Amino acid sequence: MRPQEIIAKKRDGGELSDAEIRAFIDGVCDKSWADYQISALIMAMVIRGLSLAEQDAITDAMLNSGEVLDFSSINKPKGDKHSTGGVGDKTSLVIAPIVAACGVAVPMISGRGLGHTGGTLDKLEAIPGYNVKLTTEEFHNVIEKCGFAMTGQTAEIAPADKKIYALRDATATVPCIPLIVASIMSKKLAEGLDALILDVKTGSGAFMQTLEDSTALAEALVLTGRKFGVRTEAVISDMSQPLGRYVGNAVEVYECIQILKGESDDSWADTKELSVELSARLLVLAGVSESVEAARQVATSKLTDGTAFEKFRENVELQGGDLAVCDDPELLIDRDLFRVEIKATGDGFVTAIDTLAIGNAVCEIGGGRIRADDKVDHAVGYESLSRIGDKISKAEPAGLLHCRSLEQAAFVESQLANAYVIGNTPQTRTPIISQVISSPKPK
Ligand code: URA
Repeated sequence: MRPQEIIAKKRDGGELSDAEIRAFIDGVCDKSWADYQISALIMAMVIRGLSLAEQDAITDAMLNSGEVLDFSSINKPKGDKHSTGGVGDKTSLVIAPIVAACGVAVPMISGRGLGHTGGTLDKLEAIPGYNVKLTTEEFHNVIEKCGFAMTGQTAEIAPADKKIYALRDATATVPCIPLIVASIMSKKLAEGLDALILDVKTGSGAFMQTLEDSTALAEALVLTGRKFGVRTEAVISDMSQPLGRYVGNAVEVYECIQILKGESDDSWADTKELSVELSARLLVLAGVSESVEAARQVATSKLTDGTAFEKFRENVELQGGDLAVCDDPELLIDRDLFRVEIKATGDGFVTAIDTLAIGNAVCEIGGGRIRADDKVDHAVGYESLSRIGDKISKAEPAGLLHCRSLEQAAFVESQLANAYVIGNTPQTRTPIISQVISSPKPK
């Protein structure tokens, strides 16, 4: 089958057969398809759309383009969480130890940040020495010893997705639900899971900004997970403001360790709430809890009795990280940085937050990447001190920027200040989870 024929069929609105989709993915892996041919087909898919059968076929072909991990020797249910990403979205670092402490093995393969969204691997690398490049054998051993491990996508996991995602990023072809589903699920299904909880964000800092788009993505992801034999559920969670207090790599790890140590603070209450909720739902899906309510209590008790923190500590040691940051999380806050107050632009109530602008500002001062090969400054970040609904005055800081230089601050200061929309009427806060999607109907 020549690439030109497959591209032409999709260009003209045809439905590709399983064999044609397999030929495409084989061509990506054996490099017989050139980048321009892959990109042309992807663009045709974005414009013409993909049927459910095509979406399943591409997911299956991408999944089987690489290794599917086998944890059958670990005698526990295997579960994981995936988030579509956002600003200050750091729950993986809290969920994995909670769930592991409840007897579910968590083989978590995570990504790096790109653009305004952070990535778990970058956050973990803020812990000196922490190794996120485990071999399959090391990954297995760490899970066996402490119940969870966090690593990056190896060359063997869904290699077709790795290649195609890089081309989609460079050719403005990321926003296409069937392609997003195939990309996310081919990697998650390769983890050999029994249960998967998906956190699909919605709002100004999310990849999908409207509730309608987020719901459509969540339904498609859940349907695919279930079709491939994994007990899957999704929540739609709020990303109309940064999650928790901190945005940035080291500072987000700081927030997570404080939560794991049982330190409570209103400014990170939503991070804790979402982490507990996602953990609870995963525990039910994994079959270790009977109800979400019971699971919430168990998950919370793992935070209060210190067992989740102990799991995290064990994991840091096994993955080569410096335990000093567990004992003294203040070490994660770089005291040599400048701290610049971001003043509110008016008096009144915070009615909305441009979360994307905050994520972009942190990225622009080095906390994230604009290009996939950019280096990250793990120490810089932002503290969001005002939340939607808060009363605020011009004299007060809406946030605090942790930056390397005053030039950096000058560069992003007005972007950050303007991110807070101030109005006259108090706004009711939206719940952190607006919907749970358990069994969507195929469209
Ligand atoms: N994240 C992924 O892994 N793939 C996509 O296509 C979009 C977000």
